[in-house]
Amino acid sequence: MRTLVRGGTVVTAVGTFTGDVLSDGETIAAVGVSLDAGSDDQVIDAAGCFVLPGLIDNHTHLDMPFGGTVTADDWESGTRAAAAGGTTTLVDFALQTDGSLLRGLEAWHAKAEGKAHIDYGFHLAVSDASDAAIAEMETAVAEGVTSFKLFMAYKGALMVSDEEMLRVMERARDLGALTQVHAENGDAVDHFVREALAAGDSDPRFHAVTRPPAVEGEATRRAIELATWARAPLFVVHVTCREALEQIQLARDLGLPVYGETCVQYLTLTVDELARPGFEGAKYVCSPPLRPVEHQAPLWAALRNGGLQGCSTDQCSFNYEGEGGKQLGVGDFSKIPNGMPGIETRLPLLWHHGVRTGKLTPSELVAVTSTGPARLFGLAERKGTIAPGLDADLVVLDPEREVTITAATQEMAVDYTPYEGWVVRGAPRTVLSRGEVVYAEGEVRSRPGRGRFLARALHESARPAVAA
Ligand code: URP
Ligand code: ZN
Ligand code: ZN
Repeated sequence: MRTLVRGGTVVTAVGTFTGDVLSDGETIAAVGVSLDAGSDDQVIDAAGCFVLPGLIDNHTHLDMPFGGTVTADDWESGTRAAAAGGTTTLVDFALQTDGSLLRGLEAWHAKAEGKAHIDYGFHLAVSDASDAAIAEMETAVAEGVTSFKLFMAYKGALMVSDEEMLRVMERARDLGALTQVHAENGDAVDHFVREALAAGDSDPRFHAVTRPPAVEGEATRRAIELATWARAPLFVVHVTCREALEQIQLARDLGLPVYGETCVQYLTLTVDELARPGFEGAKYVCSPPLRPVEHQAPLWAALRNGGLQGCSTDQCSFNYEGEGGKQLGVGDFSKIPNGMPGIETRLPLLWHHGVRTGKLTPSELVAVTSTGPARLFGLAERKGTIAPGLDADLVVLDPEREVTITAATQEMAVDYTPYEGWVVRGAPRTVLSRGEVVYAEGEVRSRPGRGRFLARALHESARPAVAA
């Protein structure tokens, strides 16, 4: 089946032009001006709309166990919501399971199998860098899992020591894989949390008080130092503040292979949300925490000027009401499951608050939500831009479509949205995944199980230079 997306403003990371995109089967066959449609071809009129490459969300946690509970969104609802929001590829974090990376991978394949609406890959989070786990990294990479994650926080659960970090970074370097870090000093956080609870400070807002920006800045600097000693490329996930940004910028100015991302919530919400009346602030508990508003401008600037290469969601949804969700932390903020939903709302929020306000051009938005992540995470042979031969993952975005964000109508299974009642202008009208319409006119049209596992290529630092 061929589909012609006709007469839109086609956006890539390098610029825009008014034209057409023709897909044939699963891939893009042609990009041009006044392309012809055959009588059997499906034609999608994109006049007045922007045509973007499908977004990639390189940071999600679907069906993830955490602190004795599990996320509200699994692979069915999570990927359905992603499709509705213009995301056509995601890379989720598989957790080391029973000490084994490969068992973790197996478990994550089982979670996604038969449920995913869109294409997906996995990173592997290493929480115990034992000899056995280090040995398993080679098999994981051979299976297309070419990035690993280390948590410098969540003491007693996922956190690893500096020595473990070095071991993983060195092995990842040798295998051509990318190491990612959640950068917060977990020992310091643990100490501050104990102090706060001992003083009777148990409300959600103390989650942020006990994880100040300096804690993130220090861990970011240390991770960069460790990666430098290991001669390994490094990707810092969910950067929230100036203190961390400065460290990344310093490293990049020295020419080190250090990369980073922020997430939409850090650009659009502030720490003030945690002080909502009653226990409502728990809805906004994530780590690192939301920050004071003055951190937002430097984050937007970093997305614009290449200081950060990605803007993901860190989708990690826990219900607000009922058992097994945010209520676990009533009377003790440290027991609130960490994380927020966002997989469905990334594009409308970035368009409304980024593109419409002039903070990002459409091309800059594409760079940080599709092209940059495709490059860094070994997906660029199939995803990340609009060009012949690549997968026909496309978003027709109507810049005038107004949406009121509300949990009542969202595709996600979680029972709230941090953006309840927000009105945004600019949202997907039609979304194609490998040439198939998966979302149109406000409805998800895909089916669970159509998404495919993506074996990802090695990180670019591992690939040979092209001889002159
Ligand atoms: O609060 C968050 N971010 N939860 C998800 C796990 C993580 O740290 O990425
Ligand atoms: Zn994290
Ligand atoms: Zn995360």
